[in-house]
Amino acid sequence: MTLDKNRLELRRDLTPVQVDQLVDLFQQEWWTKGRQKADVEKLMRNAGPIFAFIDPLNEELVAFARAMTDGAYKAMIFDIIVKDIWRNTGLGRLLMATVMTDPLLSQVKHRELYCLEDMVPFYEKWGFTADLPGLFFMRQST
Ligand SMILES: CC(C)(COP(=O)(O)OP(=O)(O)OC[C@H]1O[C@@H](n2cnc3c(N)ncnc32)[C@H](O)[C@@H]1OP(=O)(O)O)[C@@H](O)C(=O)NCCC(=O)NCCS
Repeated sequence: MTLDKNRLELRRDLTPVQVDQLVDLFQQEWWTKGRQKADVEKLMRNAGPIFAFIDPLNEELVAFARAMTDGAYKAMIFDIIVKDIWRNTGLGRLLMATVMTDPLLSQVKHRELYCLEDMVPFYEKWGFTADLPGLFFMRQST
């Protein structure tokens, strides 16, 4: 099967089978590894905008991102993942372009995400900056 991103369809929700595929995608990445299906189903019920690229040839989920926003000031973007065999085909660029031009997300004051240092050049392509003097990313865990 050729990997042509032009045939992919943007969907805003997942079928139960595609939720299983999302759980599988999550097992491949360091920050999502170990996520359980029940929690991913909870995520899908509560998440903000979902961006899912589906290959209509087999209804497979091949790229995913999600966001949370208040609609005015802040949007946080999470879990940006392209399925491994589809990487370096321009799909990551398409996924990010789709997120960044989303009518809801593009109108809020700040779009924010966090990432490892080696991903900074990737996100700089869309105008993200890590030049935020004095700000610290903080977390409290259960
Ligand atoms: C990061 C990721 C989404 C990129 O998707 P992709 O389909 O490979 O990206 P593309 O083929 O569209 O490449 C787009 C551009 O980003 C660049 N790029 C891709 N991965 C990169 C990386 N890890 N670091 C820096 N630049 C990167 C490409 O070189 C390309 O640049 P160009 O357009 O100037 O040639 C994908 O590699 C992925 O899912 N990685 C694992 C999950 C992950 O780390 N997500 C990000 C968490 S913060």
